[in-house]
Amino acid sequence: MIVTTDQLFKIAYGKFAIGAYNINNAEQTMGLFKGCLASQAPFIIQISKGARKYTDKRMLEAIIRAAEQIFPEAIFAVHLDHGDEETCYDCIDSGFYSSVMIDASHEPFEQNVAITRRVVDRAHAKGISVEAELGMLGGVEEDIKVDEGHACLTNPDEAVEFVKRTGCDSLAAAIGTSHGAYKFKGQQSLHFNVIDAIQKKIPGTPIVMHGSSSVPKEEVRRINAAGGKLDPSACGVNENEYLPAAKLGVTKVNIDTDGRLVWTRVHREFFRDKPSEFDFRPPGKIFIEEYAKFIAHKNGKLGSAGQLPVVRAALSNPQEDTKLRAYYLWEQSGRPEGRDTELWLQAEAHYRSTKDKESCQG
Ligand code: G3H
Ligand code: 13P
Ligand code: ZN
Repeated sequence: MIVTTDQLFKIAYGKFAIGAYNINNAEQTMGLFKGCLASQAPFIIQISKGARKYTDKRMLEAIIRAAEQIFPEAIFAVHLDHGDEETCYDCIDSGFYSSVMIDASHEPFEQNVAITRRVVDRAHAKGISVEAELGMLGGVEEDIKVDEGHACLTNPDEAVEFVKRTGCDSLAAAIGTSHGAYKFKGQQSLHFNVIDAIQKKIPGTPIVMHGSSSVPKEEVRRINAAGGKLDPSACGVNENEYLPAAKLGVTKVNIDTDGRLVWTRVHREFFRDKPSEFDFRPPGKIFIEEYAKFIAHKNGKLGSAGQLPVVRAALSNPQEDTKLRAYYLWEQSGRPEGRDTELWLQAEAHYRSTKDKESCQG
């Protein structure tokens, strides 16, 4: 079932992160659905401009709609990854996407605000949410390459102004990661101080972490042992940092490169070991299974594994979920007195009774 990105964010915020996985073809899609069901996780499918051009945007939509029928228990959102203004409008008008990302982070602040605001107005008119980026990640994304010297972390004060002025629903923040397989030289941790500062300034706004692949050493080793020539110093995000980041509001974690490594390893090893083979289906089948295992593992690290029943319950009773979220936000912002205090107190009472019921059930 396709749901809105916003619904997933409301349930996950501050508790776990939702994996946002890029797909380009049917094999990836099959592996993604299988892995998410095996781990009982909600997920976000994301489609880049490059993916839309690879075959045809209609092909991807048809593949995803078919997967929705093949796996009716799956709960997921469909998202445009790194859109420009024109592509955002195309996705908003298509009626297929749950959310879009407008990436104008390479523009000066005022221009980024203006472009994002235009996209937000058009998306919100159709009930679609918008992710926008502030700060600059390093690495390569499609036709834009940002070298390390030009990458800059998100300024938490600017983040407040940006979210307020644009009305965006989630914020892609630069917190120390970069796209691709070569993320770190020396420093290998997320900038938790920046995440913490952003969350304190804009509590309740989901933070999105791009460039979240972990680039497993073993994957790189196997690819190279099967004829690949990846730099063995390739290095990614520590997977054990996903969950602590999620507790600080990182609600969407973007992963693409790691999936490409799985594809490369499977196909290189297969054709190395069976050099006379030329049917692409046998390695394709292995890839689907390996990709499913990889996805299930990632969901475990993100904390989204096992959350499908929780998501299903919250979707069937949105009222409850809204109350819990209101209470959570009130807590996070230091229980301030104000216009909504009454609502929050009700939410707290509701939260307590839910917790009491849970503890009675053991
Ligand atoms: O951030 C970029 C994603 O990894 C998508 O990559 O533009 O090559 O499809 P792509
Ligand atoms: P990785 O290159 O780390 O997989 O990041 C993907 C991404 O951020 C897609 O938007
Ligand atoms: Zn990205």
